[in-house]
Amino acid sequence: MAIKLNDKYVSSFITTHEMDHIQQQVVLADKMLRTKTGPGSDFLGWVRLPSRYDKEEFARIKTCAASIQKKCDILVVIGIGGSYLGARAVIEFLKSPMYNNLPKDTPDIYFAGNCISATALNELLTICEGKDICVNVISKSGTTTEPAVAFRVFRALMEQKYGKEGARERIFVTTDKAKGTLKQFSTDAGYETFVVPDDIGGRFSVLTAVGLLPIAVAGIDIDELMKGAESASKEYKSADLSRNDCYRYAAIRNILYRKGKTVEVMASYEPFTAMFSEWWKQLFGESEGKDQKGILPSSVVFSTDLHSLGQYIQDGSRMLFETVLNIENSGSSFEIPNDPDNIDGLNFLSGMDLDLVKKTAMQGTILAHVDGGVPNILINVSEKNEFVLGELLYFFELACAISGYLLSVNPFDQPGVESYKKNMFALLGKPGYEDLRSALEERLKN
Ligand code: PA5
Repeated sequence: MAIKLNDKYVSSFITTHEMDHIQQQVVLADKMLRTKTGPGSDFLGWVRLPSRYDKEEFARIKTCAASIQKKCDILVVIGIGGSYLGARAVIEFLKSPMYNNLPKDTPDIYFAGNCISATALNELLTICEGKDICVNVISKSGTTTEPAVAFRVFRALMEQKYGKEGARERIFVTTDKAKGTLKQFSTDAGYETFVVPDDIGGRFSVLTAVGLLPIAVAGIDIDELMKGAESASKEYKSADLSRNDCYRYAAIRNILYRKGKTVEVMASYEPFTAMFSEWWKQLFGESEGKDQKGILPSSVVFSTDLHSLGQYIQDGSRMLFETVLNIENSGSSFEIPNDPDNIDGLNFLSGMDLDLVKKTAMQGTILAHVDGGVPNILINVSEKNEFVLGELLYFFELACAISGYLLSVNPFDQPGVESYKKNMFALLGKPGYEDLRSALEERLKN
């Protein structure tokens, strides 16, 4: 496997008997997952997805992506949460966070409907002026406010620009196969649609049409991505912790949580992983954070954040552990030039590869943080390509499910997300929310 867990820098924080102890619980969690007897078992479609995906739809995604590539300068991807983060994470990881600014023969990709900001929307509309656009709106429910508002705006723009007929050729909808207003509307309007499977929740949906269509438009090989995920699904089958890195990761983080390490910091040394960490944060945060329990997922990109959060991690409250995502071969190198004047006194670095400096910074940082009382789980990822990223996505999805069961929560629901929506709708005057509106307004007044 391209992914290897190194738990050497955790060993001084946990004992062998703790690992022995949790082994039985992992066996149980694995059984619940594999026999669909745990909570949320209606949402386990992602487990076998890499080998059981809809091949006909997959082929249609590739055809559609090729046609979008030919048709437009900009693809606007509208969605939020699980209907947004996976695609962006994969595109930034495999292409670049600066994908839109780099030379390429694929369209720019912008994401909309992932916030409630007039500024962001206006900026994107300005960027789109005079450009050929396609839109992929993604919403399982079809009713989420943020993407629905953005879709209103872009649908009107497309119809104004291309006419209803023309817009139909440029709007692509990813939603439930039968339910919801978006599905009904798309059928009536004649838009091409793709399916968010019933048994896959948003945060586990990156390898469905939700993620795959925008990812394919960016020129990423989605066959390889799926093959990588399939390889991981076969690799991480044993419930034996000594033979399963994915389950060992889940077990270690659970042991650390029980010892008061309630915050997990995903640390990497490459900016192209920043959105991947955002995806990971939603995956774990929304899966585990319930019943007043759960590890708080957070993330940093080093060395950037060593100059901001480094002090806290080294020396602040000791409720942290770090998971270091180490991309061993980033595929890039850069030789540090010599400066004849040696103004900065750094000529000892002349001729050295920047990647080596990065690796050395990582080694030094891990040792310093461990000395400071922060357990470090090291996840070594051999290289950066589609296959390996497919493995990594599956690794974390599976680890998240096992982690949730170890924590005795339902990792596949998100009841807490509804609370803000109810209040927001009530305060905005949505019909049916009148009583709640009065109660909330009273509270805000007081
Ligand atoms: O993971 C989840 O379930 C959420 O983040 C949803 O994906 C998000 O709220 C968007 O929902 P929808 O796809 O229904 O618009």
